Order: sequence, then C-alpha cells, then structure tokens
Amino acid sequence: MSRAPRWFTRLEQAVTQNENSSLFQLATVDEAGRPHVRSQIHRAFLMPPSNPAHPLLITSTDVRTRKIEQIANADTVELAWWISATEDQFRVSGRARVFAAPGRPGHSLPPHRAAPDCAGIKALEALGFDWEQQRRALFDAVSERMRATWCRPAPGSVLEGGCDEANDWPVKVPKPSEAKTEKEKALAELALSNYAIIVIEPFYVDWLQMSIVPNCRTFFTLEGEHWKEEMVVP
Ligand SMILES: Cc1cc2nc3c(=O)[nH]c(=O)nc-3n(C[C@H](O)[C@H](O)[C@H](O)COP(=O)(O)O)c2cc1C
Repeated sequence: MSRAPRWFTRLEQAVTQNENSSLFQLATVDEAGRPHVRSQIHRAFLMPPSNPAHPLLITSTDVRTRKIEQIANADTVELAWWISATEDQFRVSGRARVFAAPGRPGHSLPPHRAAPDCAGIKALEALGFDWEQQRRALFDAVSERMRATWCRPAPGSVLEGGCDEANDWPVKVPKPSEAKTEKEKALAELALSNYAIIVIEPFYVDWLQMSIVPNCRTFFTLEGEHWKEEMVVP
C-alpha cells in the first residue's frame, strides 16, 4: 500500500495544531493566460483510505466568483501556504475540481470522472464517496454570518445603490436543518445553492522549511503512487 507523502504529514500536523494557520493564497489563470491570486480558507483534508499517496485539500467559495470560470478553463492551480507557527511554506500545484449544487451550471467542474490523473478523487469515488454530502457537511459547519455571504448579489457585480445597498443584505443565515420560518428556509436554500467546494489534488509540492538554518527546501513530484523527493538549494 502507498504512503502519505512527507509534505502532507507535516502540513496536516501544522494546520491541525496551530490556530490561524488555515489561510493560503490560490492562483488560477483566465482564458487569456492572465494569473489571478486570492486568499482562501482551508476547510478540510481528505485522505482516500485505500490510497494515502493522494491526499486532497478542500476550500470553499461562491460558485459565482471568477475563480470558478477560471478553473473550468484551466484546472491546474497553485497555492502558497505560509504557516507562521512552524515557519513552513508549502507551494502546492494540483488539479482543481469544483463541486457545486446539483443542477447548477458547473455542478461538477471540470467533468472529473473523465480526468485521467486524479487518482485520489477516483479512489474515493470507487469507495462510494458522496461529494454532495461533503459539500453540505462543510456548509453546515460554517458560521451563520459566513452563510449569509452566499445570499448576496454575485461577487464582483457593481453595487448600483452604493455601499448603502449592503444594508439590505441578510446578516445571519441558519443551516437548512435549523431554519424555522419560511424566510429562513428560503435564505438557507439560496446560500446552499451558491455554495461550492473546490477540491485540489496535488501533484507537485515545493516545501521550504525556514525554521532550519540553513533553510531546507524539498521538491516533491508525484510519480504514480510514489512521491519523488529532491533536496534543492533554498
Ligand atoms: C482572509 C481572507 C480569507 C478569504 N477566504 C475566502 C474563501 O475561503 N473563499 C472565497 O471564495 N473567498 C475568500 N476570500 C475572498 C477572496 O480572497 C476573493 O476576494 C474572492 O473569493 C473573489 O475571488 P475571485 O473573484 O478571484 O474568484 C478571503 C479573503 C480574505 C482576505
């Protein structure tokens, strides 16, 4: 059986043991080849039990954001993750898959079942993994304030009424199972319909350990079920 890569063991431990370590920057490219980078919160790790060489990273977003069309256009992404508590930088290249509400355009982007090189996602699906259940579990896990952000007009659209327009937006939205009034139920469903998870399956990692002097830098390249390691000059 394959093993979890060393970079992942360290990353998972650093994130689990240190508060305020869940922020990374995610880069995508648009149709013109122009790069776009933004901050994202890490939401979960997934490890296919049958295939630990292929850990997955999950973040979440509004399905109407630009990154979604950029991933549809080019599913190779890169993220930079600085963990200040451990002084580690992880630069991760991977394939991104979007899982949005069933029936929504881009519900599952790109068509992941056709992707030949996402062994981790495939290993989970072979075990009957339910992405919609995962999406809903992560949606339920966020705060009411966070959920309310997915009931706003499309991110990046012009505020015709200026900043005052924002005063009309909902501030808190319960999870669907806890919505009591008709209004709460409608808002919970609206938020859930705009909510998407982005699953990143890494194939290359550049791990820089700043806590070691002189610093230590390792390239990890996925080769089948094995991660090739190369120590390099920082
Ligand atoms: C600290 C911080 C955390 C953020 N976390 C997320 C996140 O988890 N998901 C997300 O979609 N946007 C997040 N954002 C907003 C994004 O950085 C970005 O502005 C937004 O998603 C629109 O990006 P896009 O137009 O490139 O798709 C965060 C911003 C900050 C400053």
